[in-house]
Amino acid sequence: MDSQLTLTQQALQARANAYAPYSGFAVGAALVAEDGRTFYGCNVENASYSMTICAERSAVFSAVAAGVTRFRKLAIVGGKTDEEAAQVPCLPCGACLQVLAEFCPPDFPILLTDGVHLLGEFLPAQFRL
Ligand code: THU
Repeated sequence: MDSQLTLTQQALQARANAYAPYSGFAVGAALVAEDGRTFYGCNVENASYSMTICAERSAVFSAVAAGVTRFRKLAIVGGKTDEEAAQVPCLPCGACLQVLAEFCPPDFPILLTDGVHLLGEFLPAQFRL
């Protein structure tokens, strides 16, 4: 991945690897860790639909598998076409927000195509044990 690209451009590149033959809706995520590394995710669908994993969770799980659990920011893009993905904001689903909240505070920045949002804006309360 070209680190000269903006984080949203990197998410668009990650989206190119999405496996979404059932919905046709391809999502990409780029997650910057506190140590400066960036982890990428894309949605991966399955013929058994509920086995699908979202782009955001795939990025988080990739980072955690590498031993990284502290993050700075996340960019998300998604859409049925490249044009849609570059323009229309793709909001993270509730499951992904709950997973992000496991590791990130309410003021964690989430970059969408319409600007910067905060995790706490999308998920004001989270499930806790
Ligand atoms: N999807 C994501 O990757 N992230 C989200 O936050 C919501 C939805 C994916 C799952 C599925 O492959 C496709 O978008 C359509 O729901």
